Amino acid sequence: MRESLDTLRNEFLDRIGDGASEQEVERLRVEFLGRKGKLTLMFRGLKEVSPEERPGLGEALNDLRRFVEEKLESRLRELRQREKERSLKAETVDITLPGSRWERGRVHPLTLVMDEITDVFLAMGFEIARGPDIEDDYHNFEALNMPPDHPARDMQDTLFVSEARLLRTHTSPVQIRVMETRKPPLQVIAPGAVYRHDDDATHSPMFHQVEGFMVDSQIAFSDLKGVLTHFLRQIFRPETGVRFRPSFFPFTEPSAEIDIQCLLCDGKGMTQERQACRVCKGTGWLEILGAGMIDPEVFRFVGYDPDRVSGFAFGMGVERIAMLKYGIEDIRLFFQNDLRFLRQFA
Ligand code: PHE
Repeated sequence: MRESLDTLRNEFLDRIGDGASEQEVERLRVEFLGRKGKLTLMFRGLKEVSPEERPGLGEALNDLRRFVEEKLESRLRELRQREKERSLKAETVDITLPGSRWERGRVHPLTLVMDEITDVFLAMGFEIARGPDIEDDYHNFEALNMPPDHPARDMQDTLFVSEARLLRTHTSPVQIRVMETRKPPLQVIAPGAVYRHDDDATHSPMFHQVEGFMVDSQIAFSDLKGVLTHFLRQIFRPETGVRFRPSFFPFTEPSAEIDIQCLLCDGKGMTQERQACRVCKGTGWLEILGAGMIDPEVFRFVGYDPDRVSGFAFGMGVERIAMLKYGIEDIRLFFQNDLRFLRQFA
């Protein structure tokens, strides 16, 4: 029996070697000290041993049991400590890693240009007014001297919301809304979104305009010329050539379209290689504004006396101005929100 004690001890030592896991330690405890454990069985076997041998053997068995218990305990402690160290190591925060950057937002190029435009007019004493994007036929067309059967309505592909409501096709209805509720003198700009059934590289179904108008007792066409020439030279270049061309709008008389000298070819109409300029298509001029003297009919609609007041009005497309200013060739870039595009505008 002595020998088998030694074998057991060696077997135990073997099994509890370095690799044992917590579960394995538990299994060993059952295998050696459990109710049917190897040591437990040997204790039972003491009965069969001769009375002389029994005390010595009993003591040796007790020693072995204590040895096994202590070894199991210390092994468990060791494993737990190791596990703790492992998890502490895994959970450390490396404070030497660079932090993640917060990107700063930027103003959208259209907002940038819109602000520039309004700033020039605010400096000249204009105030800002706004109107609804969803308009009625009266303000968008009729009061602007476009009766239901007027051919000029064909100039704009209107998006209808219902029988009676539409998305405004221009910012000119704001003229009507302001004049309906106020008396001259008026010096107002109206920036905002407008909508037309149109969609290609130079037309977007939603785009932006800045409307402007000035009404008082003696406003003349020369005032319109002065205000717009100053505006265009502020927005583009101080020496930019400006030209007024006769045109037609139902709500202004006389009407004009205003061109600036081409920004790419400086009005020459061709490149240095004697090719037709692709921005102005060889004409040397870029159409930039619609304008005119407010039609007496429009004044009658808002209850003004056309014999006592006069005024001018103008309207411009913000996308077009932004495209010319920054050399952008596709209007859709403004609305795709590609950060690579938007980041370029500081
Ligand atoms: N509303 C016109 C357009 O959208 C522009 C314009 C405004 C023309 C004011 C004359 C006067 O084309």
